Amino acid sequence: MSKVALITGASSGIGRATAILLSQQGFKVYAGTRDTSKFVTDSDNLQVILLDITDNQSIQAAIHSIYKAHGRIDVLVNNAGYALVSTVEEATEQEMLDQFNVNVFSIFRLCKAVTPVMRENSAGVIINVSSFLGKIGLPLFSFYNSTKYAVEGITDSLRYELSPFNIRVHSIMPGFFSTNFAKDNLVTNSSVNSDSTPYSELVDRLIPNILEQINDGNDANSAAQLVLKIIEDESSPARATVGDKASKFIPMRRELSDEDFERRVREYYNLNG
Ligand SMILES: NC(=O)c1ccc[n+]([C@@H]2O[C@H](COP(=O)([O-])OP(=O)(O)OC[C@H]3O[C@@H](n4cnc5c(N)ncnc54)[C@H](OP(=O)(O)O)[C@@H]3O)[C@@H](O)[C@H]2O)c1
Repeated sequence: MSKVALITGASSGIGRATAILLSQQGFKVYAGTRDTSKFVTDSDNLQVILLDITDNQSIQAAIHSIYKAHGRIDVLVNNAGYALVSTVEEATEQEMLDQFNVNVFSIFRLCKAVTPVMRENSAGVIINVSSFLGKIGLPLFSFYNSTKYAVEGITDSLRYELSPFNIRVHSIMPGFFSTNFAKDNLVTNSSVNSDSTPYSELVDRLIPNILEQINDGNDANSAAQLVLKIIEDESSPARATVGDKASKFIPMRRELSDEDFERRVREYYNLNG
């Protein structure tokens, strides 16, 4: 029997590559997106499904229709996410809430909705797409990075809660990947974008560097391959890295003291000004 997978934020980048790869491997894939016109496919194994991850009714409708068709959901990939680019001082209340709503609370919503279905089948795999920035602080990315730290915390906690039901929980920490992320999903606060920001020197130094690193980043297919490997290998570790920046920084993070690690990040991103 084919395994059934639901992927969030699947219209582009890592989500899309994962949807395509899993469908080619024989999974019945539901590619969740806010805009179904963005992902057209004629594959029998791949169905694009309307899903607003900030809306419980939309989540319930999607899960219900998948359950009705297959009576099971074997895999959930919580992939959707965006980055608020802002200093803490300049962010609006709404921007802060939106960032955590999409990147963190939606993972809780999806896990909450899919858990009863997975428990019924005494099996399941949940993979949360975090980031190497889930272990690293960066200025202008306090909100985004802290959402990814939270994703790591969700993964670690949920593993205990769901293992008695044979449901595995993992996170993947990509480095920078050349997807639509830099173009579509770096959402910059308007004050930070203006010439009058007191942080202009930092913005001018860091943002072009980050944009370049994302655009020159790894290919989304390698992240998709990692997702497939985690699904297939029951002994997969709780978290795994993929991409150059993740394999550079994550081992360094483990080995160095907080102070030494901060020094290296400051040097690498020219943050000593
Ligand atoms: N690219 C990188 O360098 C990088 C590095 C580390 C981690 N990541 C993480 O990888 C995941 C996928 O990103 P990507 O690189 O593949 O970028 P992408 O090509 O821009 O895709 C991002 C996806 O997230 C969804 N999304 C964005 N904002 C949303 C919102 N407000 N509400 C609901 N869904 C939203 C979109 O889904 P729709 O289909 O609904 O439009 C889109 O398909 C994200 O969680 C990101 O944080 C990316």
